[in-house]
Amino acid sequence: MNIIDLRSDTVTQPTPEMREVMARAEVGDDVYGEDPTVNRLQELVAELVGMEKSLFVSSGTMANLIAIMVHCNRGHEMIVGNKSHVYLDEGGGYAALGGVLPFPLQNQIDGTLDLEDIRSSIWSDTDPHHSQTKLITLENTQNNCGGVVLEKSYLDAVSQIASEHNLLFHLDGARIFNASVKLGVDVKELTKQADSMMFCLSKGLCAPIGSMLCGTKEFIFQANRIRKQLGGGTRQAGIIAAAGIYALENLIDRLGEDHERAKKLGQGIGKIDGLKMTPGAPETNMIFFSIDENIQWSAEELAEEAAREGVKIDAPGPKLIRMVTHYWIDDEMINQAVQVLDKVISQG
Ligand SMILES: Cc1ncc(COP(=O)(O)O)c(C=O)c1O
Repeated sequence: MNIIDLRSDTVTQPTPEMREVMARAEVGDDVYGEDPTVNRLQELVAELVGMEKSLFVSSGTMANLIAIMVHCNRGHEMIVGNKSHVYLDEGGGYAALGGVLPFPLQNQIDGTLDLEDIRSSIWSDTDPHHSQTKLITLENTQNNCGGVVLEKSYLDAVSQIASEHNLLFHLDGARIFNASVKLGVDVKELTKQADSMMFCLSKGLCAPIGSMLCGTKEFIFQANRIRKQLGGGTRQAGIIAAAGIYALENLIDRLGEDHERAKKLGQGIGKIDGLKMTPGAPETNMIFFSIDENIQWSAEELAEEAAREGVKIDAPGPKLIRMVTHYWIDDEMINQAVQVLDKVISQG
């Protein structure tokens, strides 16, 4: 049976062309700063996102953790969305390893944090009762809100608040290219507000491993030290960096195809009795829908049944399903996935 894997864009395998460039990559010892392919990737990325420097790291989780640890000392506080990946899904590394306190604010349906909520959660730094607010961390696209996009005007407004209060602003842009393709704007328009940002090569861009952490020269100098402390200094990393270069040069523009297919998937699912799409069309490559209460399946059971029929889906809540389109999903697979869900739900 051909498996249709719609659980996440992290399941993407490298393309054949990507495997070729990996096999041919020139390499050196990256801890010595001598891997020419890593160096080329880092320069390419800094230029692409409009920041002084970038650093190749093993994962998005590591990139976010390093950024938080560079920006904050132990006991500092970070304002962060209550549905964000950093807050929910990174093992609490900011607290466990960085000693940083989260100040979680409600993510709105559109993925934003209310600007007044942000303003009112910044502690006065002259009152010793409070920890010191140091950092605002946002996510774009905002995964758990349905892959929704934060627009430039919103990012401008948050950056304004950060500078008024002497705070730093880190952007988890794991899927920032999905946001820039969706909005039709240069990615720099969505990164220039932040003091640091990271994005992942290993999601919709198909690379097997790797994320890029970006910021000023001084920030990246500190980040490199913390990467080493975390055991993230790797040696002939050019083999995986080559995949990143290939992805950035060839696979950004096609992300729009994934968005179109997510829309098509959403339209198909919207017609199935017993399933309810969360409001709003999918903005990028993710769709979320819920199972009606009168259907016996839990999300996990539905996912198990669908997997038996060859369609893998994600069950992030008791009645909540997530599906994500990506490079390896074509139109025919979208039709098949809708048919399988229709069949399975009719048995529920
Ligand atoms: C928004 C967001 N940020 C960060 C990450 C972490 O990336 P990684 O899995 O490479 O650690 C993910 C992973 O899915 C994500 O969705």
